[in-house]
Amino acid sequence: MSRKKLVIGNWKMHHTGPETHHWWQRWQELDERPDPQQVDLGVAPPFTSLGPLIDLSRHHPLLVGAQNLHWESSGAFTGEVSAEMLAEAGCDFVIIGHSERRQLFGETDTRIARKLAAARRAGLLPVLCVGETADERSAGRTEVVIEEQLQHALDHFEIDDPGALVLAYEPIWAIGTGQTATPAQAQAAHRFLREILAAAADSQVGAGVRILYGGSVKPANAAELAAEDDIDGFLVGGASLDPAAFAAIAR
Ligand code: PGA
Repeated sequence: MSRKKLVIGNWKMHHTGPETHHWWQRWQELDERPDPQQVDLGVAPPFTSLGPLIDLSRHHPLLVGAQNLHWESSGAFTGEVSAEMLAEAGCDFVIIGHSERRQLFGETDTRIARKLAAARRAGLLPVLCVGETADERSAGRTEVVIEEQLQHALDHFEIDDPGALVLAYEPIWAIGTGQTATPAQAQAAHRFLREILAAAADSQVGAGVRILYGGSVKPANAAELAAEDDIDGFLVGGASLDPAAFAAIAR
């Protein structure tokens, strides 16, 4: 099955409204932008820059998404934003279970499963992140860890259509470190995740879900990673803050 590539920029806690305008202006001025026929593009800015980016990209082929959500639709949850609110604001997708949320903000697999259900309820495409630490990899536990993370999420999330979910394999030791997984390491993890998807749903879902790689993706290493059979694009942190680097990766 052919899967269209997808490249998503995760801006994390970077880019105010004016900086978002500046990014967009530079993006528009690039000589060579990626061909939307070849690759889908998305950007996940901080909550406060969602509105500006959604307005700026209104007539352009750019998906806009949030980096987190709360699983309830509304209620007394100070500081939280619901899936329905994100959808109403014009979001297309939402990142769920990023390792920074798991490690720094106590995100658990149970919460992540609830967040997946909330995204579906509101019609947002969930981008689910899984990945192992350096210690887990050196202990030979990579597969056990990412299987557990994915399986937990799927326990409450039936996938009937490959377009209902995007998965991102992000080894924690590669995020923001400049140390990228080798194409072979990433490919092995992606293939393994695809087998779990096929077993949990069916072969069509296994073959059709897009699995992105994330962790120090740069223009210099994107092509060799993207050449692997099961790598369908990227979740890009640092390099996505620079429109030229983001475009080069996507191209
Ligand atoms: P990085 O971040 O590209 O800066 O390593 C990736 C991510 O956290 O999604």
